[in-house]
Amino acid sequence: MIAPRLLIWVTLLILPGLLEFSSSAQPVSAAAVHETRTSEGDLELGGELGGVSAGQRRYVRYVRYEELLAMPQETYTVADDSNFKGTTEISGVPLTALAKLFGQAAHSDLIVAICYDKYRANYPKEYLAIHHPILVLKINGQLRDKWPASEYNTSMGPYMISHPTFKPKFNVLSHKDEPQVPFGVTRLDFRTQSVVFGTIKPAGNWAEDSAVWQGYRIAREDCYRCHGLHGEGGELASRSWLVLAAWAATDAGRFKQYIRNPQSILACAKMPAHVEYDDATLEVISAYFKTFALPQGAQLARDQAMRGKSKNLQPKKAH
Ligand code: HEC
Repeated sequence: MIAPRLLIWVTLLILPGLLEFSSSAQPVSAAAVHETRTSEGDLELGGELGGVSAGQRRYVRYVRYEELLAMPQETYTVADDSNFKGTTEISGVPLTALAKLFGQAAHSDLIVAICYDKYRANYPKEYLAIHHPILVLKINGQLRDKWPASEYNTSMGPYMISHPTFKPKFNVLSHKDEPQVPFGVTRLDFRTQSVVFGTIKPAGNWAEDSAVWQGYRIAREDCYRCHGLHGEGGELASRSWLVLAAWAATDAGRFKQYIRNPQSILACAKMPAHVEYDDATLEVISAYFKTFALPQGAQLARDQAMRGKSKNLQPKKAH
């Protein structure tokens, strides 16, 4: 008489556990992701997630701040992050841990952090292994409503990315490997380098030590965070790769001067100066961008087409 009832109870007690087990065995952890946004400060996840078929690629999922805080945290004392004044304690979750937990597809070898101002930071697999970037959830033990403002007096939340410490691993002429430390991160996309970096790869075969290839490496690490092409890369600057290419091809002097000292051309320029770039470095960047310039006929047609909506060639008001 007792046995059936016991069975029901046992089933009721075990069933949720079984369900949880089977869902956590799926690539995307059902425990922590939501199909819809539950609050402004949720972290969006997109791109190539295991278990998401090609047709669903635009699928976005959400994780809540509180859920991220409930994950195992790492804490570091950071002295070399330009977003902080002085030594600062950060805690959060490594990007690699998030990729694993949220089911980054096996072929995905790049994480792209997207910010509310359309800035994008790229984390190739090699970078993740060497620099161990952290999605910052607390600064000096404080939750994000108590975080300091950015140097532009804007919010550094909802998420930031920092490192225990950053040591540059390579240089191309006078360009040094740069720390990718975005603030205002709203979304992480799991992507593929051949697609994202492939979009701005120069056409043709170039030797590693050629000017064009050196320029490509610099542009990929630096310019691509704010300037984009065909929906890839950042859009903070609202001047696309093709606009930069047009400048490089038609007025290399102005193009180079803009990179080294934007404010000398446009007083209210928001683009950071690259005073550290010597002439040889500016030359390879210019050589690279010229490969994206349209042939003269197409250039003229484009200029005519743009005359009506020349927004992209006009200086934009301070961001
Ligand atoms: C942190 C963001 C950021 C990065 C990184 C960046 N730019 Fe810019 N860039 C801007 C913004 C914003 C503008 C729009 C004008 C302004 O406010 O400076 C701009 C404008 C320009 C212009 C002037 C275009 C015009 O129509 O007058 C050129 C040329 C340019 N960028 C080249 C580059 C190159 C080449 C790199 C990489 C070496 C680069 N930028 C990296 C933000 C950036």
